[in-house]
Amino acid sequence: PEEVGLSHECQEMHASSPPRTRVEEWIEDPLYQHQGFWFIERRLEAVLWFQSNFKSCDRDIILATLPKSGTTWLKSLVFATVNRTKYSFSDNPLLTANPHELVPFFELKLYTDNQLPNLSNISHPRVFATHIPYQLLPETTKNSNCRIIYLCRNPRDTFISSWHFVNKSSRRESLGPLSLEEAFEWFCNGVIPFGPYWNHLLGYWNESLTRPRNVLFLRYEELKEDIVSQLRRIADFLGCPFSLEEGRQGVIEEIVRLCSFESLRNLEVNKTGCFIPGYESNSLFRRGEVGDWMNYLTPPMVKRLDQLMREKLSDSGLEF
Ligand code: A3P
Repeated sequence: PEEVGLSHECQEMHASSPPRTRVEEWIEDPLYQHQGFWFIERRLEAVLWFQSNFKSCDRDIILATLPKSGTTWLKSLVFATVNRTKYSFSDNPLLTANPHELVPFFELKLYTDNQLPNLSNISHPRVFATHIPYQLLPETTKNSNCRIIYLCRNPRDTFISSWHFVNKSSRRESLGPLSLEEAFEWFCNGVIPFGPYWNHLLGYWNESLTRPRNVLFLRYEELKEDIVSQLRRIADFLGCPFSLEEGRQGVIEEIVRLCSFESLRNLEVNKTGCFIPGYESNSLFRRGEVGDWMNYLTPPMVKRLDQLMREKLSDSGLEF
């Protein structure tokens, strides 16, 4: 198989993996199919490093999503919840640092330098994030007692949010804007970074049914509908439930406020700079609503997507 962009070590390390298929010029770099999922070429090496080297601790918390499913929101909610006795709301690190700085991605931050990251100075419980599908997580992670929170978003809004993001942040200028129709074709063919969409969801969904104490499956729409209940669910799952006293003091509401779309978007730290090199922080906050797809998708597109989801998610119990 062609191994463009991979270091010698990585090539050797993964010489035995099945061939990859390359798709040209989608967003910024070609996408590669690796173990049944699509990865941006220059991100693949970090994925491989992570897969081979990360060792989970039982207390670890891993936040998993597909891009544009509400990752930034989930990171801020979990960071604020886990650290609620450590920081007050007036000097909270979320006020001065982007959530992606506080909860780093394995494949977009920690393992990007072709060397092992120093994780020893991170306090426990360590909170990490990833877009990597469950199927491709290291065996040590799957076999550990760590807790994984997966946040999914309905396919229509995920697609529209991704399409906007690609055109704003990820598309090489020489390629020109990506049309909605073209992007939709890619999405329906499963060719999106870390996709196909349905296999990504199914990996975490199935595991959440088998190991509910270790994998919590959340939906963006449910968070939007009743964030207070969902935040309680998150805290319970993480083993740090809100006490009656905290309830009385309004701690939950404070966290919800701190992590709200308006609050995060208006912070100076999120208006400027990049959350990972090359990607502007302000592109993380667009509308933050459910149902924006209605402004873009045609009825035939909706029909096709719905049918596709029925096919791909059939028998799983997962519906949109
Ligand atoms: P839209 O493009 O539909 O507005 P991610 O963080 O995974 O990249 O997801 C980005 C999506 O989440 C964007 O959706 C963004 O506006 C929305 N978002 C970001 N912060 C949010 C928050 N605090 N609450 C709700 N939605 C948020």
